[in-house]
Amino acid sequence: MKLIFATNNAHKLREVAEVVGDEFELVTLRECGITEDIPEDEPTLEGNALQKARYIYARTGIDCFADDTGLEVDALGGEPGVRSARYATDGHDDEANKRLLLERMAGKSDRAAQFRTAIALIIGGEEHLFEGVVRGAITEAERGEGGFGYDPLFVPDGYESSFAEMSSQEKNAISHRGRAVRKLAEYLQKTK
Ligand code: IMP
Repeated sequence: MKLIFATNNAHKLREVAEVVGDEFELVTLRECGITEDIPEDEPTLEGNALQKARYIYARTGIDCFADDTGLEVDALGGEPGVRSARYATDGHDDEANKRLLLERMAGKSDRAAQFRTAIALIIGGEEHLFEGVVRGAITEAERGEGGFGYDPLFVPDGYESSFAEMSSQEKNAISHRGRAVRKLAEYLQKTK
């Protein structure tokens, strides 16, 4: 079964393909010829995920899903949240984003945070939303070389390692995206 996954991020594709399994052929945006920037200017993660999925479905007519993720930090009132990718600059500068987060967290004793992913699926013209959350804490400094984005700054509750110190399988088992994608996969299994 062919499904467009609204990403060109190889890390994400690998993480999601591991969870969804071989019976679904995941096609990236580039592979289906979508090279333009897809609008993503809604005020919520759910709104952005739906906006992206609707755009792709209107453009291709192929079943598809899109995700949007935010890092929500308690002591920052849920920031950077929906602005996680463009926290420090208008571009998508992971290094600047991590630096700014550490700056804003300097001296704060409450380090609690969560990653939250919203996935919007459009299948046979019907829309569905799935959510995954993982609670954890923001580190005082970067830890680990793996993963991407804010991974070196996030230690999930109950663990000593940051996401960047885990294998992609370890991260998938507990991550926001892993959780949301498992809900998506369960739903897809039922509709097959
Ligand atoms: P997006 O919605 O997946 O594009 O992600 C929004 C922002 O959150 C970007 O800055 C990503 O680098 C970051 N992000 C998304 N997923 C993860 C993750 O699993 N770990 C760390 N950072 C992430």
